[in-house]
Amino acid sequence: MAHRCLVCAPLVAKSVEDMVAKMGQAKAAGADLVELRVDHIEGFKAEADLPTLLDARTLPAIVTYRPTWEGGEYIGDEAPRLQALHLAADLGADFVDVELQCATDFIAARKSKSSSSATKFIVSNHNYHFTPSEEELGALAAKVVATGADIVKLVTTAEDITDVGRVLKLQSRAQIPTITLVMGPKGLISRILAPKFGGFLTFGTLASGQESAPGQPTLADLINIYRIKQINADTKVYGIIGNPVGHSKGPLLHNPAFAETGHNAVYVPLLVDNLGEFLKVFDAPDFAGFSVTIPFKEDAIILADEVSPLAKDIGAVNTLVRKSDGRYMGYNTDCDGALSAIEDGLRARGLATSEGSPLAGKTFVVIGAGGAGKALAFGAKVRGATVIVVNRNFQRAYELAKSCGAIAFPLEELANLPASPGMVLANSTSVGMHPNVSASPLLDKEALRKYDLVFDAVYNPLETRLLREAKEMGAVVVSGIEMFIRQAIGQFELFTDGPAPRELMRSIIEGFH
Ligand SMILES: *[C@@H]1O[C@H](CO)[C@@H](O)[C@H](O)[C@H]1NC(C)=O
Ligand SMILES: *[C@@H]1O[C@H](CO)[C@@H](O)[C@H](O)[C@H]1NC(C)=O
Repeated sequence: MAHRCLVCAPLVAKSVEDMVAKMGQAKAAGADLVELRVDHIEGFKAEADLPTLLDARTLPAIVTYRPTWEGGEYIGDEAPRLQALHLAADLGADFVDVELQCATDFIAARKSKSSSSATKFIVSNHNYHFTPSEEELGALAAKVVATGADIVKLVTTAEDITDVGRVLKLQSRAQIPTITLVMGPKGLISRILAPKFGGFLTFGTLASGQESAPGQPTLADLINIYRIKQINADTKVYGIIGNPVGHSKGPLLHNPAFAETGHNAVYVPLLVDNLGEFLKVFDAPDFAGFSVTIPFKEDAIILADEVSPLAKDIGAVNTLVRKSDGRYMGYNTDCDGALSAIEDGLRARGLATSEGSPLAGKTFVVIGAGGAGKALAFGAKVRGATVIVVNRNFQRAYELAKSCGAIAFPLEELANLPASPGMVLANSTSVGMHPNVSASPLLDKEALRKYDLVFDAVYNPLETRLLREAKEMGAVVVSGIEMFIRQAIGQFELFTDGPAPRELMRSIIEGFH
């Protein structure tokens, strides 16, 4: 089937006039066709309204008159509803959607009518609760095919992202044009990856809030962010695994970077509940690499086939890359992201020796002993710094210090640490503490005078109180945004085994702020 997956805008409007207006908007937004959900039109009169709608169309249209028993808005007898669907076909609607329950009789009736209309019939079935087993899905698809459908449409609900795996498998084996979609936030990739698996169409809304089913992305996101019209069977899939992931900027960053460097790849949000199950189900070679975020960075160490020594020391993997032999390699790009930014800051200040890391021999004070604190402490240690860890909970500072060969101090000692040339302060605590931007400082401004460079892992706001005061006291400051940019560049380079479009990625991230 050499068919390009179509992008369909589902139109839900309360009036015919409004639906006509939305048809125009859908075309302008890049939709290939529209679905006219006439069950949403108040006081819908098929005889008058269908001709108006179909005459006004500038794109091919599906006419759908969904009854409440299939999750739609139509309440009433079946006879007038089915009559309206017949009328839509008689009027030459490009597609008419018929629910599985009534499809056999409906299609038989069409065939006995010897109408000249070229209308194609989509026979649909929706499960608003869950996704059946592979066997049940197969049986359901066979039932739909048996009605004489031109196009099969099976829609289920994702209770877990792995449900999408079964549905995509069914899709990729389909013998006749098929639409399979999985509703809900955990089903999102079924909508984005439909073109890769040979789906007949996928839905994108005109705007968020105008969904006709849960989990539909917008047309703009499908077309502009995910470049859905470029996705094909060979497209490699990357994504961010987390829970939650809705707020992730990854897709806004990696997708344009793939486009810029000419990679046939897409980067999607992956709302996962169990990392092991996810990796087991999506084990095709085209699922090529993942960013890993909270709460899976520790699980990823265990699940990767091989882990870089640094990621193992830090105890966190933020990048998984599938090698050509199918094995997963685990890396941590947060560490190099932060440390390389700090090294560049020291170089800019003229505090670098000609060889090796500018951190060698310097005192590097880390505040915090959580994930980011560990990455900073280990990263500084391998670069030859004398590392001091301070933390509110001294025991945790002590354990981190012991594991990386650093020295631990209680937080109260922070202000009393002796000064040394090229001293660095790195604040790793409460990453993402926004909007608590002016939380009480741990150090008075005067105590910052001994530092040549101050780093803050927080990047919202770009200039935290700590960085502002450090700058006032004459230090070079490095914002967490630098760590974010560089960890993303590091991931992209691991994903593609080639150079990242650094300036593009930097300008996109800076544009977020
Ligand atoms: C902000 O800080 C206050 C006081 O330290 C705390 O009670 C509150 O939970 C914090 N809010 C967030 C969103 O972290
Ligand atoms: C480190 O960052 C956190 C979060 O922004 C902040 O509350 C804390 O005061 C900072 N530490 C110092 C020493 O300023």
